[in-house]
Amino acid sequence: MLSVREVTVRYGPFLALDGVSLEVGRGEIVGLIGPNGAGKSTLLRALAGLVTPAAGSIALRGRPLAGVEAFRRVGLGMALVPEGRGLFPHMSVEENLLMGAYAVRDRARVRENFERVWALFPVLADRRRQLAGTLSGGQQQMLAIGAGLMSNPEICLFDEPSMGLAPIVIGEIAEGLHRLREAGLTVLLAEQNAKLASDVASRIYILQTGRIRYHDIPENLLRNPEVVEGFLSVY
Ligand SMILES: Nc1ncnc2c1ncn2[C@@H]1O[C@H](COP(=O)(O)OP(=O)(O)OP(=O)(O)O)[C@@H](O)[C@H]1O
Ligand SMILES: [Mg+2]
Repeated sequence: MLSVREVTVRYGPFLALDGVSLEVGRGEIVGLIGPNGAGKSTLLRALAGLVTPAAGSIALRGRPLAGVEAFRRVGLGMALVPEGRGLFPHMSVEENLLMGAYAVRDRARVRENFERVWALFPVLADRRRQLAGTLSGGQQQMLAIGAGLMSNPEICLFDEPSMGLAPIVIGEIAEGLHRLREAGLTVLLAEQNAKLASDVASRIYILQTGRIRYHDIPENLLRNPEVVEGFLSVY
């Protein structure tokens, strides 16, 4: 579904990503974990077309994305749910979801997508008229994921959905991710929360200072003392 080859991103003289390669297969949830400043958000932003790599290539379903603008990537089936959630706090739950569907022309499709989000996160359905800014942190994250789903993505890029949430709420997000995988969605999940990533992902890439340091299935990473000590300290 997604193929990233030797991607390098610079912010002025600063090398934020240094030859990053990774693959995400159709229907897979892939974890991207790494500490603060590792380059997780930079990679997701490069995939979404919000920063331009200095080198390397990104392909979606075999189609190279170089020169394809961010809003067109949404139309090609890629949705980014950004760090900090990117909601409109003074708009209702329903209006925020509608904003997520801006690229969808077919009204029947938009109605279907609403139903899908209500089914995935029933708490949002109960609060459809409530202002997004007055939701709890966990509800806001569910809304951000829901807004991403409103564009009919085939692949979703989630940037640290667990940020600032209590463990029990992270569990609800994990359940939502499991249900999305059952529904066939492909996900690249950037996380500092290694437990969440290992719970839901079939494979994990560990990013540190702009480079992929490890790539394996969670079970193997959890058996590697060097990895556990360096990156999975939550265990
Ligand atoms: N617009 C920018 N200009 C200059 N440097 C930047 C910019 N954005 C990010 N960086 C730097 O690039 C590096 C990677 O940042 P990035 O936000 O991708 O990390 P991250 O893995 O998402 O971290 P976090 O877990 O804290 O969100 C950091 O050192 C950061 O300071
Ligand atoms: Mg980040």
